[in-house]
Amino acid sequence: MDIDKFLTQLNNLLIAKGEKELSPRDQKIIQDSWAGKTYEDMNIPGYTTDYIKKMAAPSLWKKLSNLTGQRVTKKNLRLVLESLSKPSSSIPEPTESSPLLKLDLSDAPYVSDFYGRTNELAQLEQWIVTDHSPLVAIFGITGIGKTALSVKLVEQIKDQFEYVIWRSLKDTPSVEEVLSDLIQFFSNHQENPSSTTLNNLLSRLMYYLNQHRCLVVLDEVEAIMDAGESSGIYKEGYQDYRKLLQCIGEKRHQSCLLLTSQEPPQEVKELVIRQGRIREFQLKGLKKEDAKALLSKDGISKSLHGVGQLIDSYKGHPLALKIAVRTIQNCHNGKISDFLKGSLFIGDVLINMFDKQFSLLSDFDQELMNHLAMATEPVSTQYLLAQFSSYPNRASSEIKTSINNLLQRSLIEKTSQDIGEVFFNVEPVIKNYLNKRLY
Ligand SMILES: Nc1ncnc2c1ncn2[C@@H]1O[C@H](COP(=O)(O)OP(=O)(O)O)[C@@H](O)[C@H]1O
Ligand SMILES: [Mg+2]
Repeated sequence: MDIDKFLTQLNNLLIAKGEKELSPRDQKIIQDSWAGKTYEDMNIPGYTTDYIKKMAAPSLWKKLSNLTGQRVTKKNLRLVLESLSKPSSSIPEPTESSPLLKLDLSDAPYVSDFYGRTNELAQLEQWIVTDHSPLVAIFGITGIGKTALSVKLVEQIKDQFEYVIWRSLKDTPSVEEVLSDLIQFFSNHQENPSSTTLNNLLSRLMYYLNQHRCLVVLDEVEAIMDAGESSGIYKEGYQDYRKLLQCIGEKRHQSCLLLTSQEPPQEVKELVIRQGRIREFQLKGLKKEDAKALLSKDGISKSLHGVGQLIDSYKGHPLALKIAVRTIQNCHNGKISDFLKGSLFIGDVLINMFDKQFSLLSDFDQELMNHLAMATEPVSTQYLLAQFSSYPNRASSEIKTSINNLLQRSLIEKTSQDIGEVFFNVEPVIKNYLNKRLY
């Protein structure tokens, strides 16, 4: 459906409520926001950018929130409007206790171009919709596409739920803040439990998750995780998230918590082992054809010499590829072969992201990573045990714990499982990053 049809739909709703149609100015703000323009790029005759940004747009979003019963922002406008067009979700009255879908995706980014991931989406949908898994976690290195995949998944399955809410933990909210926020949403803002105990908050949340079929997405969970001798531990002051995950993973309810993280919290690891219905998904790079589509959007033709090699070099890592394309165009006039000469390029953006991820590793994890990054071929468990038990004298349990941590953080991968022997290597993008840091 195009934006004009949505505008007609919104105007019809306003008229039905006895209100005036949207002004030409407001219609233009909606059209431009729909097209992904910033306020600065909107050129609305008779109005300054400042006025649009600070006055006109905020009051428009408020008006649309009242009209649709969902929190509307510039960022989520498209998602909200698209959800209105679904036959099953005609607009609920905000005050009515309606069985229809209530969405709060105001924290979710807008994903415009999305390629592939058909199998991943099918698998996740099966776990969540068909198997009714109470907790599904998507893991993978930074930039691999966890958030983008989750946005698409939510768009695909949201109609199976009564409530869908997306929250990012990027700004490290306390578990109490997140719980209050969720409870307010599930209670249609009838409850405002700001000053109560964690146990009360949890029991209120479980009440709603039991009464309704809700989907809660917690994105960027790694923001509250800490480094340490073992992975999956929370930062100081965030340990209570453990109780939230345990409640959702173990108690009876009809809802699902979907989380994304660079590394699995300890409870998830335990729950996956103990409880069959809890699932974890390790996200890898894009398939070659899909990575080609992503590159062609950025002006690198699918048939260009070296495209396949470029994708292989980055193992289909979407963010690394997007960064590489810029450099190919800026520095090599679009010639991939020139770009691929010399060592693999990773831009500042990725270096900064990896710096953050590596700062979370324990000293020994880092040492083991560096060792693997320097190896020219995959290295076996036996080799690592032999290598590190003599110097620096590590117990084999410590070495194995570290291997587990790194696997779980998707920093190393298993290459083959021949009879009895397991080999590990480091993803090329990370290997290159580490070699840069070492020398
Ligand atoms: N399947 C895909 N198709 C197109 N772009 C993608 C895809 N997956 C990820 N991207 C892009 O790659 C970048 C990193 O993805 P993101 O989901 O933010 O990674 P993560 O959450 O794992 O750190 C974003 O710009 C995103 O839009
Ligand atoms: Mg993300």
